[in-house]
Amino acid sequence: MKKIYIINASPRKNWNTDKMCQSFAQGVQDAGGKAEIINLYDINFKGCRACYACKLRNGKNLGRCAYPDGLTEVLDKVAYGDGIVFATPIYFGDVTGVMKSFLERLLFPFVRYDKNYTSIAPKKLKTAVIYTMNVNSEIFENSYLGKNNQGAIGFFERWITHVYEKPVRICAYNTYQFSDYNKYVADVWDENDKSKHRQEVFPQDLKKAYEAGKEISIA
Ligand SMILES: Cc1cc2nc3c(=O)[nH]c(=O)nc-3n(C[C@H](O)[C@H](O)[C@H](O)COP(=O)(O)O)c2cc1C
Repeated sequence: MKKIYIINASPRKNWNTDKMCQSFAQGVQDAGGKAEIINLYDINFKGCRACYACKLRNGKNLGRCAYPDGLTEVLDKVAYGDGIVFATPIYFGDVTGVMKSFLERLLFPFVRYDKNYTSIAPKKLKTAVIYTMNVNSEIFENSYLGKNNQGAIGFFERWITHVYEKPVRICAYNTYQFSDYNKYVADVWDENDKSKHRQEVFPQDLKKAYEAGKEISIA
């Protein structure tokens, strides 16, 4: 049975990113796999401390993040799963801060400081990325992903691909951000358009996450 870890880097439970994670997890389970959602905002941890214990020649933690905190147990188990999903809302055109901190702790120990930055990860995991955001696909592709993957999201995916398999990407654009738009100063968005999109398009995004979950589970 395939074990798939879904890393949720959204602070909001049951909102857009979390719902995409739940749908992906359902797909994994319906295809006979086991899915576990890990909510980064529930874990007490910080980014890399640059202690370099993971790079110490003949060190007992070579290739492993040795810093002991809430993330240690998570890092040790996801490295030996079958797949990992990175799910995050877009903040300032990038993944959230906690996702960035998670990536530092997960991938940096696996990247050897040799000419090719050879990966020493114990397994080459299957991967997926889930993004939810306000903007449309055009802005996402041209700016966040960037031409030739030179944007912030392009950079994020390039490092995932360097260590693991190339991620399957699922995006939810133009997401519904507030429970009641009238209560917030958010004149740039048209509430009716947001509401229509949430009813008509977001269910399709959830379906894509579900199908990707099935796919990763049987691949
Ligand atoms: C701090 C912050 C920064 C954001 N920056 C962006 C952004 O640069 N581009 C964008 O499209 N959406 C941005 N958003 C909107 C969220 O990405 C979007 O509403 C997302 O779907 C929220 O996910 P959630 O429902 O899981 O919280 C931002 C939201 C917050 C709170």
